[in-house]
Amino acid sequence: MPDHGPASLGKVAEGKAFLLQAGDCAESFHDFSAVAIRERLKILLQMAAVLTYGAALPVLKVGRIAGQFTKPRSSPWEDAPDGTQLPSFRGHMVHDDPPTLEARVPDPDRMVQGYHQSTATLNLVRAFTKGGFADLNQVHAWNQAFVASSSQGRRYEVMASEIERALAFMAACGVDVASTPQLHQVDVYTSHEGLLLPYEEGLTRRDSLTGDWYDCSAHMIWIGERTRELSGAHVEFFSGVHNPIGVKLGPTATPDEAIELAERLNPERIPGRLTFVARMGAGRVQGALPALLRAITDAGHPVVWACDPMHGNGFKTASGRKTRDFDQIMLEIEEFFAACRSEGAWPGGVHLEYTGDDVTECLGGSEHISEEQLDTRYETLCDPRLNGRQSLDLAFRLAELMRRDTLA
Ligand code: PEP
Ligand code: CO
Repeated sequence: MPDHGPASLGKVAEGKAFLLQAGDCAESFHDFSAVAIRERLKILLQMAAVLTYGAALPVLKVGRIAGQFTKPRSSPWEDAPDGTQLPSFRGHMVHDDPPTLEARVPDPDRMVQGYHQSTATLNLVRAFTKGGFADLNQVHAWNQAFVASSSQGRRYEVMASEIERALAFMAACGVDVASTPQLHQVDVYTSHEGLLLPYEEGLTRRDSLTGDWYDCSAHMIWIGERTRELSGAHVEFFSGVHNPIGVKLGPTATPDEAIELAERLNPERIPGRLTFVARMGAGRVQGALPALLRAITDAGHPVVWACDPMHGNGFKTASGRKTRDFDQIMLEIEEFFAACRSEGAWPGGVHLEYTGDDVTECLGGSEHISEEQLDTRYETLCDPRLNGRQSLDLAFRLAELMRRDTLA
């Protein structure tokens, strides 16, 4: 039986909680408002409610938020609309996004702007999650109009009503629902890729009580697929801070690399210190993941295993739009669960890119977004994100997968 205590990464590592890490691919300096943050939080709270209720398991909520301003790129160049080549867009903390040479000149002052936007974002997240908005009595209010009118939105309404009835039932039984803080506020933690080391180092502080170093730019930071080499600067920096950290592992990661990363980044073997985020691509999980799971389990490393079903599934349409197909995203999650089950590892979480807006960036889902529809509202600064309906759809399907695990 699952333990219903508060969620933490240590609990996830023990198989007693689930990690929902989700947010924008790249936060924007231009699109920054309290309303946008609130709408993004609504979807996160909805997904978390679906997973918690559906799988009867504590869900640890970690946003890709308040610092996700830098992007690793596979190519240093990208094609401009006029056919010329431009330095690739690397995120608003480095330079601006318009496709001109002037916009792409790096400006270190942008790190200061990124810091101020992150602190304002964190203040808003704190206000929304602690000040009544995240109260379970508001479970209906998180359903935005464009989501509520869809089949997933209606399914969510049914679930929200069940939660309301459960709360009323508990109150009728004499449980003091009103003064149980877990029902009225949530913990939402922040995370981003710790790519730009001058920014991360500038925000690293020594805790005066323990003497330990922490990167205070976020609760959790991760190393991307392109910067995880063992002798690289990112592994070196991350090994020196005490935050919970993640490392993305793509299909070329070897069992030896995974073990060396775990030894280097979590030598004391603290459960929850290290999360491996597998991002293999649908169809490649079975060939790549089981060997990693086996090696880490055999070595006795208490890592959290999470699945990023986004970054291995990108492709370009004939018209040149970067997109991802909902079915491939779901397939990778299913393959991840299957691999974890077959190796006796706990499928501990997912890592997603979504937005609170009604965009058309990923194909498919129950509303069957087609290639032609991608142009309707394609707004991302970098990678295609799930919209609210697709996120909710994914959460319902994921809850079903999880239920098979927790009830097994
Ligand atoms: C990302 O998370 O936005 C990203 C670029 O991922 P990866 O390093 O896995 O490619
Ligand atoms: Co991305």
